[in-house]
Order: sequence, then C-alpha cells, then structure tokens
Amino acid sequence: MSKLANEAQSTKQFLMINGEKVEPAKYAPLYSPYSGDEIAQIAMADKELTIQAITAAYNARGVMAKMPAYQRAEILGKVAVLLTDKADEAAEIISRESAKPIMFAKAEVARTIETYKFSAEEAKRIHGETIPFDAAVGGVGRIGYTLREAIGVIGAITPFNFPMNLVAHKVGPAIAAGNTIVLKPASQTPLSALFIAGIFEEAGLPAGVLNVVTGPGGTVGEAIVEDDRVSMVTFTGSPSVGIGIRNKAGLKKTTLELGSNSALIIDKDVDIDQIIERCIMGAFSNQGQVCISLQRVYAHVDVYEEFVAKFTNAAKKLKIGDPLDPDTYISALISKGEAERVLDWIEETKGSSATIEAGGKLQAGILLPTIITEADHSLKVSCQEAFAPVVVVNKVASVKEAIEQVNDSRFGLQAGIYTNNVKNALYASQELHVGGVIINDVPTYRVDQMPYGGVKDSGTGREGIKYAVEEMTEMKLVVWNQS
Ligand code: SIN
Repeated sequence: MSKLANEAQSTKQFLMINGEKVEPAKYAPLYSPYSGDEIAQIAMADKELTIQAITAAYNARGVMAKMPAYQRAEILGKVAVLLTDKADEAAEIISRESAKPIMFAKAEVARTIETYKFSAEEAKRIHGETIPFDAAVGGVGRIGYTLREAIGVIGAITPFNFPMNLVAHKVGPAIAAGNTIVLKPASQTPLSALFIAGIFEEAGLPAGVLNVVTGPGGTVGEAIVEDDRVSMVTFTGSPSVGIGIRNKAGLKKTTLELGSNSALIIDKDVDIDQIIERCIMGAFSNQGQVCISLQRVYAHVDVYEEFVAKFTNAAKKLKIGDPLDPDTYISALISKGEAERVLDWIEETKGSSATIEAGGKLQAGILLPTIITEADHSLKVSCQEAFAPVVVVNKVASVKEAIEQVNDSRFGLQAGIYTNNVKNALYASQELHVGGVIINDVPTYRVDQMPYGGVKDSGTGREGIKYAVEEMTEMKLVVWNQS
C-alpha cells in the first residue's frame, strides 16, 4: 500500500467545509467489508455542521456564477490530470473501503478520470438558443434567446457502489455548470469522496464550492434535503430513500438514479460462446452491486440449455477472495447484513419450481456467484432488486414473450437483447419500457457521456455529463423589443 493511500485510510478523517478540514465532536470507526479490520475513523457531522456546509456553499454561489467557463474547465481538467497521477492510490482506497476487487476499482478510476474530462469539455458547451419570435404575430419586432444559468447550491447524496465515479457524475457537471455543492457520500465509502475533495483543492477550486459532509444519513441527508437554500438534490441509491427525498424536497429539482432488476433477452440463433464473458461481467462484476447489474435472463428455448450450462460453468471458475488480490473477481458484499438478506431471498426459492445451479451460499463470508433457473416472477430474487451476485435464468418461447416478462417489473433502468434478427432488435427497442435499450450486449453497459437513468421506480432525470448539466441549470429567456 502506498504511503498516501495508507494515510488517507488509517488516520482520523474530517469534514470539508468552506475549504477547511473541520473536526466534529463525534467519530465512528469504518471497517473493511472484507476483513472486518478498522480502516479509518470517520467524522460524524450533526445538523449544525451540515447547515454550516450549506451556508458555505450558499455563500460561494456568487464566486462560481461569475467564474468564466474556461476557468471551470481548467479546474476540472486539472482534477483529471491529478487523479491520473494518483490512480493507483485512488483504486486502493475504493477497494479497501468497499471491497470492490482491485481490477474493477482500477476500471472505476479510469472512468472517473473520463467523467472529469467530459465535465471539463461540457463546461465550454453550455448554451441556449435563439427563438424565432416573428413566427407569432405578437412577436414581430422582437429578438429573443435563452441562456442556461447555474441553479445554485446542489445537494449530492452518493452511493457506495461506485464511490468515486458516481461522486464525479454529480460534482463534475455541477461545477461545469457553475454551481456549488454539499456532498454526502455513502456511510461505508467516505474515503473516496474525501480523497477527491483533496484533489479539487489542489486543482484550485475556491473554498466553499465543494463541501463534504460525512455522517448519519438521517441527520445529514435530511438537513440537505430540507434546507431552502439548496436548489437541487441529486441522489443515487435505493428507491425507498429516493421516494423519501422526493416527498421532502418540495419544489427543489430532484434527479433520482434508483435501482432495477435489469434483464437480458437471448434470442434463438445467438452464438452462446460469444456472450458468456459479457454475461459473467454483467451479473457478477462488483458482486452484482450495480444498478444495471444483470439480474434476469430470458433465453429462447432453442439456446436455453446451452446457455445455462456454459454460464454456470464459467461462474464456478471465478476467483473469490481478497479485493486487493489482482486476480479476485468476487469479494465480500458491502455488509454482513446485505449477505444475510440475499441468503434469505435465495432460501425463499427453495421449495419452489426454481433450481440453484451455482452458488447460493457463503464461502469464507463471500456470497458465491449464484445462478437460479426457472424462478417464478413472484420470488424476491426475480421481482426485487438483488444488488448481489445473483441472477435468474428463465426459458421463453419468443422475443415477444421475453419482452412481456422484462416489462413486468416495477423497475425500468436498462435492458439488453442479443439477437441476429434486426426486426426483433427494432421491436425490442420500441417495446421495452426502460431508460436504455442495449442491443447485442448486456444491460450492464455504461460509458460516462451517455444519457443514463430510468423510468418507473428506477428514477427520474438523467445523468451523463451533458444531460446532468441540463438538469443542473435553469433556462432564462431574454426578449429584446426593437420597436
Ligand atoms: C449505478 O450502479 O447506478 C452506476 C452504474 C455504472 O456507472 O456503471
């Protein structure tokens, strides 16, 4: 472990308020989800400190609103460069606090760098449009255009599963658009957020623009959502918390990236050997703790048996263990409680028509990659979000039947279809009720500039830098009377 990463993780942490490291009265230990060892002491903010952070962000609005686009772009570009220099330390921090296998933590850091690069570019592209006023009788003699203005203070509440890149998806576009931020990272993964705050400081971000408040969600999150000076809340996490935020947010804008039980359709005539590696990645990367993790597969009856055999065989070969081992593919879930919840859900399948083809149990505290076939739709592993390395595979007679099954869900984030039939691909893209349809790949596909978000209980609003900037700015109309 490098010195910097070690220091970041073994010392007493802090809150970042108005450019200062603030020490609260209370701390709580942060434990490794894999080893159970204490890795840091985390600052626990109370309501008063959260309000201080909001005040700092509120007071810094003017500085950011006046900062020219090229300067915002320069800061974001510098963050990308500094993070590139510290990529190994960053990956270690992610891996240690979240038990994300280091190969996936490194991939997350690479994506985070791209997210900040996209944000730097997007800062220079924020613009409105001219309006053809004379298209209306009452518009003759007028010229008008729209501007996009910063919204003000943004409250960002981020999850544990991509503790650096999902922070970047909120902080990057917020700064690109000239806003200020109060960030509450997930309780299990505050170190990644504090590490990034240090990088922003080094890159020259003015004091008060990015404030990081760690502590209990109930206290910190609630204070952010309820404060009238916060103009927007952007949240990634569970539907229940997201709905709670929406109910309390009043007229604040909200972007909610919530969960899903994402599905894949496999049509007949698909070359199964060609898709197994992607299906393994889709179902099991980051222990399935991904909002678009592959959780349901609907395979055409002609390829079902072959798919189940080859998928199961590949899943059983995955290396389980220490997240810092470069060969580890699957490590511990974020908490013991989560592992117990999923084991209960797996238990529910026993005594039903379902068969557990692989996994279904713990090995040294790690949930083995689990494949369940012919699971009834009503079982929790099928109809709820598993957020674990658990996938159900069911047989269908047609793409039409598969689409009906996919749509029979309270969620609608992304869905995938493998097919060689262009008519079926087009039909699926039209009929699937989701935020994104991925043709010839798993639903677990995201690059950071694409629009990302869902329908139904999967949320509202879109991320992806350009789209997040739209959410994080207000449109202003200017009309000139020439007469
Ligand atoms: C998520 O879990 O919502 C994010 C997935 C990703 O960025 O790949």
